[in-house]
Amino acid sequence: MSLKEQIVMSQLPQHVAIIMDGNGRWAKSKGKIRLFGHKFGVRAVHNITEAAAELGIKYLTLYTFSTENWSRPLAEIKGIMSLLVSTIAEETETLLKNNVRLRVIGNNSLPDKVQAKLDECVKKTENNTGLTLVLALSYSSRWEITEAVRSIAKQVKDGAIDIDAIDQNTVQNNLSTSFMPDPELLIRTSGECRISNFLLWQIAYSELYFTDTLWPDFDKEELYKAIVEYQHRERRFGMTSEQLKK
Ligand code: FPP
Repeated sequence: MSLKEQIVMSQLPQHVAIIMDGNGRWAKSKGKIRLFGHKFGVRAVHNITEAAAELGIKYLTLYTFSTENWSRPLAEIKGIMSLLVSTIAEETETLLKNNVRLRVIGNNSLPDKVQAKLDECVKKTENNTGLTLVLALSYSSRWEITEAVRSIAKQVKDGAIDIDAIDQNTVQNNLSTSFMPDPELLIRTSGECRISNFLLWQIAYSELYFTDTLWPDFDKEELYKAIVEYQHRERRFGMTSEQLKK
């Protein structure tokens, strides 16, 4: 049976989040500059978005550029930003054709040209009802949680909510991801086993999947493999195995 055939469609994760890592090492292994790796990283983004949409996954969140990535060499940052603009320009039609909606989460500090291109694509695809592709851009989870705290504090100050009424839902509803469920599956490529400030609140009960495959080599089969493994995990949410079987 192929990997795809092993996927139990009735138990698909609704939301898959991915830390795309290893573009630089992939390029270096080929004697090329880092940007070459990012270019092939875009090909992987295309393939994985297509696979997620074909399977019927509802949300795919990609950690595309972290707030910490602003510390990289300027030439690499510029290269990634122009890659973003050209990719959005080239892929908008494909997103429309495949009923994919684009959304962006992050701290809005992208260059104007990049922001404008993203806004245009977000607007054009806003009525699409298939997969929602979420790009985390200039994003970090601690920034997001700090913003949520600030917003809740303001609502308390304005008398809009009572301090004793603050619960987990209040926090959840004030995060930039409030429009989607938490990811059931978080994938990180390239053999690094850390979270790097990504969706810290949202992954409380996510299954974590780490693979040595570098992001430019992460193809549809690799995604199917991750989903099959996810479906073999027992998600206990703090309960015992016996309780779950009842
Ligand atoms: C991680 O590899 C990759 C990034 C920080 C950038 C990801 C960007 C893209 C795939 C291109 C644009 C994407 C879209 C959605 C159009 P790394 O550079 O950290 O690799 P390394 O750890 O091997 O150095």
